[in-house]
Amino acid sequence: MSNAWFETVAVAQRRAKKRLPASVYGALIAGAEAGVSIGDNLTAFDELGFRPVTAGQPAERDMATTVMGQPMSMPVIISPTGVQAVHPEGEVAVGRAGAARGVPIGLSSFASSPIESVVEANPQTFFQIYWAGDRDSMVARLGRAKDAGAVGMILTLDWSFSHGRDWGSPDIPQSMGIRTALRHAPEVMARPRWLATWLRQGKIPALGVPNFVVGDEPVPGFMDAYGVWMSTPPPTWEDVAWLREQWDGPFMVKGVHRADEARRAVDAGVTAISVSNHGGNNIDGAAAPIRVLPEIAAAVGDDIEVVIDGGIRRGSDVVKAVALGAKAVMIGRAYLWGLAVNGQAGVENVLDILRNGIDATMRGIGKGSLAELGPDDIVIPADFSPPA
Ligand SMILES: Cc1cc2nc3c(=O)[nH]c(=O)nc-3n(C[C@H](O)[C@H](O)[C@H](O)COP(=O)(O)O)c2cc1C
Repeated sequence: MSNAWFETVAVAQRRAKKRLPASVYGALIAGAEAGVSIGDNLTAFDELGFRPVTAGQPAERDMATTVMGQPMSMPVIISPTGVQAVHPEGEVAVGRAGAARGVPIGLSSFASSPIESVVEANPQTFFQIYWAGDRDSMVARLGRAKDAGAVGMILTLDWSFSHGRDWGSPDIPQSMGIRTALRHAPEVMARPRWLATWLRQGKIPALGVPNFVVGDEPVPGFMDAYGVWMSTPPPTWEDVAWLREQWDGPFMVKGVHRADEARRAVDAGVTAISVSNHGGNNIDGAAAPIRVLPEIAAAVGDDIEVVIDGGIRRGSDVVKAVALGAKAVMIGRAYLWGLAVNGQAGVENVLDILRNGIDATMRGIGKGSLAELGPDDIVIPADFSPPA
């Protein structure tokens, strides 16, 4: 049997591409329009350099931190992703991997596993919701998450329903019936290992959205839930403040891109913001979050916690983000590639890659703790960020 371990996230992505049916791989790549933002999320990290030290490095590096009241072994949080059909154990496997490595998970309201089983797998679970449906239904979803034991809420707001992609969008079925199965049969038959993983568990991808409803309401299909979200008018900052009031505990707004709005988030009483462009899936051309992080971190100071997501593939990316003002990062595709390739062990593999990379980078630049990291550790090109 071949060794399932991989040495970098890029290797995991290559293997995931070979393993997943084309439409599932395409749904993970996602992106919008010309893919400028997905590309910038990666190249922006590459534009940043380090200033390594030559001697006197600390013998040990401490990378533990706390975000939204949750202690974590390193400044990494599993970001919510609403994707289906990657692996039969889905977010439960991701949650277990996070728990094994001391890392919290954000669970998407479009995820395939019910929140109750994910909290069981990882007690450090934040539940993510969109501004979708009427107020009563949102409060009901918060109530279900609370009852399940979620330790924090993430409200994601950076989605603009920009659907076209120059490379074509995957066909996302509403649910899995015989006709859907037949339509997807050719691409699935070309991926026997993916199919075998499902069959071994006696499952086929269900494609339902179980966390979108409460009690004994029927589980909607992906596109039904998406339709509810799409037809809900966007919230004002007053609405955000209202929703925040409905949740007794740490609350994050995900998808902030501007310093003035970061201040609005502070005024709305949130605990944390994630500087994000939804992994390049919001409007194309949205700058890489790392470019606007310094300005946002300066605008909010210690008033709220600032995390960042988008383009994190290496431990050195995490160190760059913390040096430029983030308390932690959230990861999306990196763990999805790991999940696709090797389930829970694959996600643990990704988390180990990040941990080793953070450790090596901190050693290289002579830093023994996250608190010692700052912009002086980074070589920043003059035109890296938009003018203030
Ligand atoms: C396939 C896919 C599905 C996603 N679904 C959600 C979601 O349901 N809720 C959410 O808040 N963010 C979602 N995101 C955004 C991620 O939480 C995160 O912001 C993004 O993936 C970070 O960029 P990265 O993939 O480069 O790490 C999704 C991202 C991807 C790639």
